[in-house]
Amino acid sequence: AHVDPTAVTRVSKDVKPVGASYNHTAKLSSNNWTFNKTLSNLIRKNILRFLDPERDISILKGTLKPGDIIHYVFDRHSTTNISENLYRLLPTVSPMKNQHHKRCAIVGNSGILLNSSCGPDIDSHDFVIRCNLAPVDEFSQDVGRRTNLVTMNPSVVQRAFQDLVSEEWRDRFLQRLQSLSGSVLWIPAFMAKGGEERVEWALRLILSHTVDVRTAFPSLRLLHAVRGYWLTNHVHIKRPTTGLLMYTMATRFCDEIHLYGFWPFSHDPQGKPVKYHYYDTLKYEYTSSSSPHTMPLEFRTLSALHRQGALRLHTGTCD
Ligand code: CTP
Repeated sequence: AHVDPTAVTRVSKDVKPVGASYNHTAKLSSNNWTFNKTLSNLIRKNILRFLDPERDISILKGTLKPGDIIHYVFDRHSTTNISENLYRLLPTVSPMKNQHHKRCAIVGNSGILLNSSCGPDIDSHDFVIRCNLAPVDEFSQDVGRRTNLVTMNPSVVQRAFQDLVSEEWRDRFLQRLQSLSGSVLWIPAFMAKGGEERVEWALRLILSHTVDVRTAFPSLRLLHAVRGYWLTNHVHIKRPTTGLLMYTMATRFCDEIHLYGFWPFSHDPQGKPVKYHYYDTLKYEYTSSSSPHTMPLEFRTLSALHRQGALRLHTGTCD
């Protein structure tokens, strides 16, 4: 099979804009936030017109076979093959089939989480989503420990685990994978070229050490569909971040969605410096034109939804 990622998204004309009007200077109120169930249901319904997160969260085994050629979503002229290992780790049914949770937390990776004491709050949710294998153990007081689903961009293997150059890095990576026992590991393997080997290394470790994770590989249409949904809400996002993808998908499985660690700004509201990531020394890239993301725009959108009670953004401390 030759899969064309551009064969996507039926754009529906009658989706009403949600969160279309924002005021970025307004302070996020946290004390008098109340959940707007009606709006949250409406958002779920509208998102379902573009994608079905239960299905699009992963390509399933029955739809591909080893050797099949896939065009990368962003680098459409480049292709990759479905390896034997990847095929073995494709789920046979959606890892989120029939799942519904009352309260979910999505944890972004901003340094705003440091000294937040939000760990226990985050862990009190019924389902916790994290991004890019961000470490938890050393930061549990602020970020919690619980993980039900975690994403892993292939670049993480290089950025956080030194491309597994030594036995030590391989062990560290393996330990991180083993600590995810029972969770979903969501690997966007077909977004951008260049990560093929890194994905393969991860899959080999999972298989050879029988790591107890449920792997998922997002569908080729997911990105276009998410972009399409936000576009009809007048939010033009070039390349949605992992955090926004997770929020968009979580609307399908969660009633109340709480976001932590979303703060794409170099200073907090009091003017104190904020690290880009709570766990490393990476610098802000979103200001450079080479960054594919528009995080501040995403943040304004999420803030507007917070003010309307559709989701809750936690940007302060939790004590
Ligand atoms: N995030 C944020 N503010 C930051 C850093 C991250 O709001 N200072 C959110 C973004 O939604 C981001 C998510 O947290 O997608 C996870 O962070 P990270 O792992 O840094 O994602 P990136 O690697 O920056 O981007 P990508 O979405 O491409 O994975």
